[in-house]
Amino acid sequence: MSELNNIALKILEKGKGILAADESTGTMTKRLEGVNVSSTPENRLLFRETLFSASSMTECIGGVILYDETIRQYSSKKNRIPDLITKMGSVPGIKVDTGAKVLASSPDEKITEGLDGLRDRLKDYYELGAKFTKWRGVYSISKNHPSKISIYANAHALARYSALVQECNMVPIVEPEVLMDGEHSAQDCYEKTSEVIKKCFDELLLHKVDLKGIILKPNMILAGNKSKDKITNEEVANLTLECLKNSVPSEVPGISFLSGGQSEIEATENLNLINKNNNTNFIMSYSYGRALQQSALKFWSKDIRNVDGTQKIFNHRAKMNSLATQGKWSKDLEN
Ligand code: 13P
Repeated sequence: MSELNNIALKILEKGKGILAADESTGTMTKRLEGVNVSSTPENRLLFRETLFSASSMTECIGGVILYDETIRQYSSKKNRIPDLITKMGSVPGIKVDTGAKVLASSPDEKITEGLDGLRDRLKDYYELGAKFTKWRGVYSISKNHPSKISIYANAHALARYSALVQECNMVPIVEPEVLMDGEHSAQDCYEKTSEVIKKCFDELLLHKVDLKGIILKPNMILAGNKSKDKITNEEVANLTLECLKNSVPSEVPGISFLSGGQSEIEATENLNLINKNNNTNFIMSYSYGRALQQSALKFWSKDIRNVDGTQKIFNHRAKMNSLATQGKWSKDLEN
């Protein structure tokens, strides 16, 4: 089983984190149309290939999460995309859930689907070169949410997913995302995130998942985006560390945060403080989607053939986050 632990540790090697480029076609269409680029398979590939062939892939990006469309595509130099990622020194991974749907008994909440037929899909992805996978459960905070139904159902799905993924010799990324949308305080986020994560580990253990062969992908502890409660970055870092120290078993090798709607700088600054103050044995890194791609996408949209310019922006963001995993980032490096 140490094979899975080795993969997890390779992905989160010193100074490295994960590029989450697994936006579904629907989400990617929103992102591209948001910058006035039409969402064709060719354009989706062009942007992604531009990132995957950037120099920072070797130094800063230990793993890339792909979407089903991309893992089957070929680069302009006729390499399969997972081969391009491997050639750059990174590890290819794949999102395997099929999205969050309305939870029948609590229709304001979501349950993530994709377990049916998963074993066969995993075999296919493994053949295509994937070494790790991702499944995201999503939880909202309000007066009565997340409900026990959502906490239990999503934890159950995450555990069944993880067991199947390990059976297929890949590392599952376990992503319970407590959303930042809402008026809730950071304390609410702390309490709900702790409850959600603890329940996930109860189920992972029940399903005999080897915790040394997973990566946890949680949210940071933040006040809701409509909250009156404003907290400092230092408080975000300390609450996040406290929450994870108390809810994550020590066998877990690494934690890679999602950015969840934080700005690029905020996501980097908070990760830096988390690492500066890290009083746990967990590797604390990033698995950012928007916080690694936003500026690069905006720049690229002005001239989609400008590979060098786009890569320069992506390399900078990746480097800043790489420094943040070592607690070595500072604001003046941004200029
Ligand atoms: P963000 O970093 O944009 O939140 O995306 C991470 C992710 O993979 C969400 O599932």
